[in-house]
Amino acid sequence: MEKTVEIVDLSFTYPDGHRGLEYVTLAIYSGENVAVIGPNGAGKSTLLLHLNGILRNNGAVRICGLPVQEKNLREIRQKVGLVFQDPEDQLFSLNVFDDVAFGPINMGYTEAEVRQRVGRALEWVSMTGYNERSSHHLSLGEKKRIAIATVLSLDPDILALDEPTSNLDPRSKWALIELLKQLSMTKIIATHDLELVRVLCQRTVVLDGGRVVADGKTTEILRDIGLLRAHGLAPRSD
Ligand SMILES: Nc1ncnc2c1ncn2[C@@H]1O[C@H](COP(=O)(O)OP(=O)(O)OP(=O)(O)O)[C@@H](O)[C@H]1O
Ligand SMILES: [Mg+2]
Repeated sequence: MEKTVEIVDLSFTYPDGHRGLEYVTLAIYSGENVAVIGPNGAGKSTLLLHLNGILRNNGAVRICGLPVQEKNLREIRQKVGLVFQDPEDQLFSLNVFDDVAFGPINMGYTEAEVRQRVGRALEWVSMTGYNERSSHHLSLGEKKRIAIATVLSLDPDILALDEPTSNLDPRSKWALIELLKQLSMTKIIATHDLELVRVLCQRTVVLDGGRVVADGKTTEILRDIGLLRAHGLAPRSD
């Protein structure tokens, strides 16, 4: 099987000296749905930000064989669609249409193709009819859905989603899960939503303190109460 994401010994320290990741080694294969779970501050978002080179540690991450380095960033960003944890970081246009069209326009698609892609992406996140709305005046859950649409409109090979179901109401959450089940690209999902993990991801990676502390079948990881408890992930038993 083809390694879509290959991370070897990735460490990252933020400019203030805070250590975000420590010696992370991880290979993700084409078509896998991988959950990344871990307590607050574990390094999940930091890891995802390395997949499309927003954060970089030259050469430690490869996407479809390409090292994540300055000179490859354009190609890598076409391959990896990253949805940020905070939708405010993703939405910057005057209206929803422009936000969702930004990527396809940037990729040089024709106007008709851009319209078709925006329409399809908005339909996927059940936000048809929101074209003219101001992204900044939407509810948090609506913003989250538009942020996801901005990436789906690009049809990336790899979807990296940071807390995709946070702030979604149950109907929107399950609609998103159904959609993600139907999309065949490789998916890496950082989340605290263990329901999402259980139904979508065959494989789960547990991060804590910037390190990978477990990596295996979701069914086995979620059954391992000792492991979950040790990393602040187990539900209370009382
Ligand atoms: N810009 C930054 N500057 C300094 N330290 C940071 C910065 N962003 C994150 N960190 C630190 O890096 C560590 C990892 O943070 P990260 O956001 O990756 O955690 P996370 O697992 O995504 O947490 P959460 O579940 O809260 O989203 C944390 O200790 C955090 O305080
Ligand atoms: Mg995070």
